[in-house]
Amino acid sequence: MQPKLTAKALCADKEIGKISKVIVDPLSHEISHVVVRELNGQGIERQVPIGQVQEVVSEEEIVLRCSPEGFGQFPVLERDQYVTIKEVEIAHLEDHLHVEPGEILVPLPRLEQGVPRRTFFTNMTHAIGTLIALPLVYPVLKYLMKPMFKPYDNAWFSVGNVKKVSKENIGFQFKFTRGFKEAFMPEQQIEKNIWVVKATPAVQKAVYEGNDRKFFDDKGDVIWVNKSNSPYIGYSGKCPHLGCGYKWRKTKNFPDGVFLCPCHLSIYDEAGKVIDGPAPRPLDVLPLQIDAGGEVKIIDVEYKAGVNNQIRLL
Ligand code: FES
Repeated sequence: MQPKLTAKALCADKEIGKISKVIVDPLSHEISHVVVRELNGQGIERQVPIGQVQEVVSEEEIVLRCSPEGFGQFPVLERDQYVTIKEVEIAHLEDHLHVEPGEILVPLPRLEQGVPRRTFFTNMTHAIGTLIALPLVYPVLKYLMKPMFKPYDNAWFSVGNVKKVSKENIGFQFKFTRGFKEAFMPEQQIEKNIWVVKATPAVQKAVYEGNDRKFFDDKGDVIWVNKSNSPYIGYSGKCPHLGCGYKWRKTKNFPDGVFLCPCHLSIYDEAGKVIDGPAPRPLDVLPLQIDAGGEVKIIDVEYKAGVNNQIRLL
């Protein structure tokens, strides 16, 4: 039986508050905490680990393992460290959990906490406004954007020394800057990143399935071949779902680490394969070579996000 949100919470036979929210582990899809709003009139919400729920008496009532005084020791909910499941897509969660009505929270990955989500939504609103205006200015844009439709430059970028990637099957992030010219605007330097994995033979096989990976220019000519037994594999720093930046993160279910995208919680293993979440394809492997001095060089290929197949954009 699952208690309802708004169920009474008791400590040692004394009602101390009501359940106001639940917190879900995005990887296991299990409830990790219940959030209890105190009855003290100030509306303070405390997060109680699910292990501290002694008994679910009914849908309307739960008993916690604490004294009324001890309840005050549970941490206060830091609401900005969580997003609701309306803001993220967690695959299959609804098959597993039915909590109505009220908020179900998912913790932001620790690496992403502090990133102001409001900024994201503000930018999103601007983007939607731009899209609405687009048909009106299309003829002008078409003229101005002509320079963008030029062949890929296929330039190699040095991103750092391979010695930094010491451990096998662990994601290591390299940052680099590249010039980017948007239509008639002056060229700007933008910061980008890629992830490199020092791959064991098993991971090489999972990525390349025994076949060398060819990369092509806009005319269909081969510009580079990643050997299938190459020990270093580079992935584009953009999530193939909708292009967010992702991180290497150790989790309860994946203590050795996985790539985790904070936007909609896609999870990829060290071979870039999708373990969970809405991502439509594996991480995008980049052309990569290591020069004699150990410098990692990549071609900054970019593919369209949100589609099953790789459609090259850059
Ligand atoms: S952008 Fe949606 S999961 Fe990464």
